[in-house]
Amino acid sequence: MRISLNAPKRDSNAGFASRRRRLQNSKLWARNLPEVEINTKVIVGLPKEIKDNEYRVGLVPAGVRALTDAGHKTIVERGAGSGSGFEDALYERAGATILDSADEVWQGAEMIVKVKEPIKPEYERMREGQLLFTYLHLAPDKDLTRQLLDRKVTGIAYETVTDRRGALPLLTPMSEVAGRMAVQVGAQYLEKMNGGRGVLLGGVPGVPAANVVIIGGGVVGTNAAKIAVGMGAQVTIIDNNMDRLRELDDIFLASISTLASSAYAIHDAISRADLIIGAVLVPGAAAPQLVTRGMLKDVPKGAVIVDVAVDQGGCIETTHATTHSDPTYYVDGVLHYCVANMPGAVPRTSTFALTNATLPYVLTLAKRGFMEAITKDNGLKEGVNTYAGKLTYEAVAAAQELEYTPLNETLGLAK
Ligand SMILES: NC(=O)c1ccc[n+]([C@@H]2O[C@H](COP(=O)([O-])OP(=O)(O)OC[C@H]3O[C@@H](n4cnc5c(N)ncnc54)[C@H](O)[C@@H]3O)[C@@H](O)[C@H]2O)c1
Repeated sequence: MRISLNAPKRDSNAGFASRRRRLQNSKLWARNLPEVEINTKVIVGLPKEIKDNEYRVGLVPAGVRALTDAGHKTIVERGAGSGSGFEDALYERAGATILDSADEVWQGAEMIVKVKEPIKPEYERMREGQLLFTYLHLAPDKDLTRQLLDRKVTGIAYETVTDRRGALPLLTPMSEVAGRMAVQVGAQYLEKMNGGRGVLLGGVPGVPAANVVIIGGGVVGTNAAKIAVGMGAQVTIIDNNMDRLRELDDIFLASISTLASSAYAIHDAISRADLIIGAVLVPGAAAPQLVTRGMLKDVPKGAVIVDVAVDQGGCIETTHATTHSDPTYYVDGVLHYCVANMPGAVPRTSTFALTNATLPYVLTLAKRGFMEAITKDNGLKEGVNTYAGKLTYEAVAAAQELEYTPLNETLGLAK
């Protein structure tokens, strides 16, 4: 099969050609690729997300432009960006080639950039040696893990890429979105006709503002606090990390109260709360259930819980995951909102936020190739979950009781 992709004129030089030949021969890019005319560097594929209610997209037109300017080629599935408000013409103007089907995109690309983990119809499109850069969340997903291993896909998971501080730079933007949204959603459900107790977050002169209790003062909690303070609410942040509470105290000064986390403090705070936001994370573990069912009886009727930590099981005992199409339920007269993919409700903002964080990695992978990119950036290397049929991420192997092979060993590198 021969795919002819027109690269920008300035890219048709011998340097690119030899580099491309090296990449193709190096085993470090896609193996068994269709024969591609040697006049571009890397072919990046952007398929449309097909998971239910998923409107985000892996690259915005500005990202395609950056790839084009660097001499790479982007192939985009028709309509891939429309859910986020990016029409095909914008991608074309940025240098992309629009293809009619997902099959063509997966078949033609060396690197696939996505948002959500591949789901069943996408499995058979994945090819040996293809680099897949997306959220993977493999630990609970045996099917997908098996597919990536059997098909020898190089799977780099956004959620396990780390930065120099050990933080998770590709998770942070979605926590920022969800944190800010939590207050917006909470305010809406506090309205009487939406099922809440009919309290205005900011109060009015002569009437106190609503009490917002945020459990967990990390990225979600801090962003929730910013919006709640901005809307004039009385905000309390509870965390078990005293240094974090000191930082929050310095950031917000007198506009919030901080509380050291304990069952007593949490029970006391939520018994006066109008809005409770669950924002706890213990990395790699299920969220601790800090609000018990027993405590819930003391929460005012019609109060609202937004448990953002639902994707880790939730930090409220009565939490179970809900969807955007059926987002809420009551327990003991308290309204629960527990949507596991909150950023999906604001795909345009979320796509910009996500791709602001992912694009530098996409550009680096395209520029340096997989091997050089991961050897120069240990944090990106942390993102590699599967490579050449081996499971290279220890926590996923442990969760699924599969064999773990350190990436260095697979690549024949020193530890
Ligand atoms: N539902 C969604 O759509 C959505 C979107 C983004 C993030 N999330 C989830 O939100 C959660 C929070 O994410 P984050 O980025 O803010 O994490 P983070 O690591 O930045 O913050 C978590 C905070 O919880 C605190 N904490 C841990 N144990 C605690 C305890 N026992 N008591 C009080 N505080 C405790 C930590 O000290 C930390 O400050 C995660 O589970 C994340 O996956 C969900």
